[in-house]
Amino acid sequence: MEDLMRKLKEARDYINAKTGNLKKYAGLVLGSGLGDLADEIENKIIIPYKDIPNFPVSTVQGHAGRLVIGKLEGRVVLCMQGRFHFYEGWGMDQVVFPIQVMHMLGIERLILTNAAGCVNKNWEPGNLMLITDHLKLTTHENPMRGKNEDELGLRFFDMSRAYDPELADVVRKVAKGLDIPLKEGVYMFFAGPSFETPAEIRAARLLGADAAGMSTVPEVIAAAHCGMRTVGISCMTNMAAGILDQPLNHTEVLETGIKVHNQFAALIKGIVREF
Ligand code: HPA
Repeated sequence: MEDLMRKLKEARDYINAKTGNLKKYAGLVLGSGLGDLADEIENKIIIPYKDIPNFPVSTVQGHAGRLVIGKLEGRVVLCMQGRFHFYEGWGMDQVVFPIQVMHMLGIERLILTNAAGCVNKNWEPGNLMLITDHLKLTTHENPMRGKNEDELGLRFFDMSRAYDPELADVVRKVAKGLDIPLKEGVYMFFAGPSFETPAEIRAARLLGADAAGMSTVPEVIAAAHCGMRTVGISCMTNMAAGILDQPLNHTEVLETGIKVHNQFAALIKGIVREF
């Protein structure tokens, strides 16, 4: 995308015009079930995605589709209430566009949340997992494929610290302090929108995955490209395909999300406070 920098700058300038150059400390991407955390932001400035130049507009049920900027736990955050998924039909470049806009706005820290299928048989729905690494085997679908924008980052860039080890320690400390049990593991990206097959989940487990989901990984890659420090947290909303003798459905995903909502929200707020 040759005019990526122009598009990013247009989006950045539009947001800055709305927020008056307010220094934004952290970016927050709220996955399914956690969107209402944005309602707790104080002195909110709300910007619908449809108003932001070059922004995609999200369609999935339960995703609001707006930026909410303001104070959470005393820190100015820029929160995506609703994200863009590859399965919605967006290109990978569009999926990660908002992350690159955050970078352009000067945001250096990013918190990504998601709902995921639980691949690890020792865990259960409702468990929260700090993402320590990821797997993405659809090799051609890298969001950084195509012309590299040197202004954003390197052509070939490191992924060994994509999930920031120091910030991960902060998350562990916060979870401990709040008495919130926190698993840790590897998140495997699947393009969706079909849930995985039982064979895919068995393969995922053999490869070392603990969770399977349809988001987050493209965003983490884009964040690593432009040098943002990232934390990812998954909520296991259901046992992944083939583990239990029952079909998967989106209602179960939403229901578990509601059950653990308060704990998940408390953890994210604690992280923002300590970041
Ligand atoms: N698979 C992929 N994505 C998901 C799942 C799942 O089982 N649950 C919630 N998001």
